[in-house]
Amino acid sequence: MSLYAHITGWGMAVPEQILTNEDLARQVDTSDEWIQSRTGIRERRIANGDETTATLAVEASLRALQVANLDPMDLDLIIVSTSSPEYIFPATACLVQDRLGAGKAGAFDLLAACTGFIYALNIGTQAIRSGAVKNALIIGAETLSRLVDWKDRNTCILFGDGAGAFVLQASPERGGVISAVMRSDGSGGDLLILPGGCSRMPATYETVASGKHYIQMNGREVFRFATRVMAQATEEAVRKAELTIKDIQLVIPHQANQRIIEAALRSLDIPMEQCMINLDRYGNTSTASIPIATCEAIQQGRLKAGDTVVFVGFGAGLTWGAAVAVWSGPQAAVRRMLPLRLRMYARLRSWIRRFLRRIDAMIWGRHNPPI
Ligand code: COA
Repeated sequence: MSLYAHITGWGMAVPEQILTNEDLARQVDTSDEWIQSRTGIRERRIANGDETTATLAVEASLRALQVANLDPMDLDLIIVSTSSPEYIFPATACLVQDRLGAGKAGAFDLLAACTGFIYALNIGTQAIRSGAVKNALIIGAETLSRLVDWKDRNTCILFGDGAGAFVLQASPERGGVISAVMRSDGSGGDLLILPGGCSRMPATYETVASGKHYIQMNGREVFRFATRVMAQATEEAVRKAELTIKDIQLVIPHQANQRIIEAALRSLDIPMEQCMINLDRYGNTSTASIPIATCEAIQQGRLKAGDTVVFVGFGAGLTWGAAVAVWSGPQAAVRRMLPLRLRMYARLRSWIRRFLRRIDAMIWGRHNPPI
């Protein structure tokens, strides 16, 4: 029996704190007019001290699980796509797993920069289509504001924080994610890079002093690359789904720059009305931008059950990709997902597990328990 991966839940979470172009113009040599005309961005959301990549991911996930009416204990897989994980390890996905109380799920982080959500969507879909996984939670979450040099006008005007999540569920009914392409070209790795802090350049006084722990970007080169690959990836994914561009009701692109999106749509001959854009209010939230834009497209009634939608993105790596989905909407289910109760249950579960681990250590000390 063929299985399909249907998108049955979606959710987003963005910080409350807004940073406008005018605010930025007080910090660096830029202007609202310059930022809007070159990027389309008016403002972005910035995480406060208590908000992290995992807290935003958990909020978005709870909303997505609520839409899908799915208990986290029924999740088999959690993928967090992020370029701003809480740590190198443990994976942010494991923190999310714990805070959701998803006791039966495998969890890992995926790093494909701003293309990460497309990659995660495809990996989650393939896991479902193979029969190995029934329910998957795919999250794109970022707090890139913590990795941006707020004195570098090249980059600090672009990025914002946020998270978005999809629930994918197996069903024999044809639909859901029907094709995807994933591409990469590491020869362009230096065009968008965060060089410091890992094995190649461990943190030292010098790396910190010279700003190696901030995002560095060659904006013009990335711009050229992006306009080329967005259209290519879309065409390829549509062809793979055995459809034509005319069959597409909505394009949800990575929200990096209005001019990049316009150029891509022009070359695809798709009118702008068929494209979801919300980067004016959130800036580039990297891998979170596609699920956030999807949630807002649904709120605005622009994406309905049965519609064919293309997700397309590009980013550091270099990476790029696209996916075609027939929009499903939530599956019929008994409503049982109560976020507040769930949050309390997850906290209690986590506490008990830590407590038992401590008791275990006290009992066995330096010795291993008998197997
Ligand atoms: N405010 C005001 N002036 C700025 C500026 C800013 N924030 N940033 C750069 N400038 C200046 C430059 O110094 C340059 O001045 P000069 O002509 O005197 O040398 C001028 O504006 C033009 O700079 P340029 O880099 O050519 O601008 P651009 O039109 O390429 O726009 C980006 C810059 C970054 C907005 C654009 O290249 C871009 O969006 N690239 C893609 C980046 C991206 O999407 N990254 C994320 C990928 S996931």
